[in-house]
Amino acid sequence: MEVLALNNAVEVQDVDLNDDKACLELGHILADKSVVFVDQSVTEQRLFDIHSLWGAPCKAILHRYVGEQRLTGRHWRGLLLNLGYISSAVDHIAEKAGMSRVSYQRNAKGKPTGVFTNGELDWHSDQQSYHDNHRVVGLMSLWGCEGSQTTFLCTAAPYETLNQDDVTMVNELTTVWNWDGGTMSADLIDSQKEIVRYNMVPYPEMECALVDQTASGVKGLRFPSHCFSHFKGMSRKESLKYRAHLWDQINKPEYIYTHNWKDNQTMFMDQNITLHARPTNVKDGDSRTLSRMISYLDKLYPGNGPADHVLYDGRKVGHAEFAAMVDAQRRKEYFGDAPLNASKILESA
Ligand SMILES: [Fe+2]
Repeated sequence: MEVLALNNAVEVQDVDLNDDKACLELGHILADKSVVFVDQSVTEQRLFDIHSLWGAPCKAILHRYVGEQRLTGRHWRGLLLNLGYISSAVDHIAEKAGMSRVSYQRNAKGKPTGVFTNGELDWHSDQQSYHDNHRVVGLMSLWGCEGSQTTFLCTAAPYETLNQDDVTMVNELTTVWNWDGGTMSADLIDSQKEIVRYNMVPYPEMECALVDQTASGVKGLRFPSHCFSHFKGMSRKESLKYRAHLWDQINKPEYIYTHNWKDNQTMFMDQNITLHARPTNVKDGDSRTLSRMISYLDKLYPGNGPADHVLYDGRKVGHAEFAAMVDAQRRKEYFGDAPLNASKILESA
């Protein structure tokens, strides 16, 4: 196995992705380097199996609660249906927790089966407002990907170059998030907005530390892109100014790896200190399809499995309590000011 330096990323060559031992080593490289390119593909089942060697599969809390019908009622039916369309795209895999496709292909009913929209996607990371342990994504190009790009920006290197004042500052800051209606892409359709909202910022004022780390202890910033509200204890104006100051130091060509996709390639990437974006436009009818798996690395780094709480209003909130908070908010939005009516509808649902 050979590790080649790319621009703030690495390429791993001569690795047999069907060999478990080699894949374990690859997981350690991913924890240290954050963005790892392998010029190979495997079956989607094997992509799932590789992540399973590394740790538990990951599913956003609200997607899990709605998908498992622990939250039910008319106010969740749309999300449940849309999650079902996405899940059906990987029906050919026996166990598929954490698996999805990034695509705009439609199923027989004309519903999109991919997670995202057409068009471009601004800088983001998966489930960015959740306080959680290290999560990693494997993105494997299946077909129609040639000519499209994904960019990756790991913040570990720029974090190292921050001056002492900034280091002290960022180490103390807590990021507060608010769903912004879906500005990460102008082209999200409503059903996808709902999926993205309940993946990213399901509840107003969710919190997480600005400084985060990978399972192997590489520090960087969970840089607040879209859905950023403010830093705790700072006005929004001051927060936006400070974020712009940080972004000036991070958004530099030397920190950005641009991947020009061909089919049958795999990019593995961290989600806690790394942003990614899709600068190329994907149009309706394009067949561009990638397979995507998300997991933790807790089998390689014990103790780094899924957290059992989120951070809200300065305290730890258990997942069940958090799901109940989101449910109450969703009911209010969906049924307006008629809670009695709502519960009747729920009973009959
Ligand atoms: Fe993404």
